[in-house]
Amino acid sequence: MSKVLIVYCTMTGNTRTAAEAIADGVKSAGGEAVMKDGCQAVPEDLLKCDAVAFGSYDAFSYMGGGLKNFFDRAFYPTQNAITGKPYAAFVTHGGGGKAVQSIESVAQTFKLNKAADSVLVKGRPDEQAVAGLQELGKKLVAAGNSKT
Ligand SMILES: Cc1cc2nc3c(=O)[nH]c(=O)nc-3n(C[C@H](O)[C@H](O)[C@H](O)COP(=O)(O)O)c2cc1C
Repeated sequence: MSKVLIVYCTMTGNTRTAAEAIADGVKSAGGEAVMKDGCQAVPEDLLKCDAVAFGSYDAFSYMGGGLKNFFDRAFYPTQNAITGKPYAAFVTHGGGGKAVQSIESVAQTFKLNKAADSVLVKGRPDEQAVAGLQELGKKLVAAGNSKT
């Protein structure tokens, strides 16, 4: 069974709602979803998962501090141990969304493999956005299964 880690940060809940939708998609595809706030996630979470979703609000066109905090703490402990692991990024924003580039750039430095297009959502995810996020969860389960 594919274990999908969902690491995210949120200020006002929009990105948590998005993360929950991804987790629903993971579970509906028969995977295990592990949701962690960026400040609470530990490097072992990244080592132990089969695929990972990184989520943030857009903060001045960069990822939020909670996710950045996780990336900073996880880099050395996971270096060369997660090469090729499937990942996807998701961002909620207020009309911009450029923060996704910062997540993709760091994921590339971690040598992760982009398993699906990033999902950008303006504000709180509505029904249509939730459906797209659920799809992303399903894709990550499939990518994690084919990796293991
Ligand atoms: C400090 C701060 C900076 C922000 N900067 C941007 C930005 O540069 N571009 C943008 O589109 N939205 C920006 N926003 C809006 C948030 O990204 C947006 O409201 C997001 O959905 C909030 O997600 P959350 O509810 O998970 O915190 C900013 C919000 C905050 C609090």
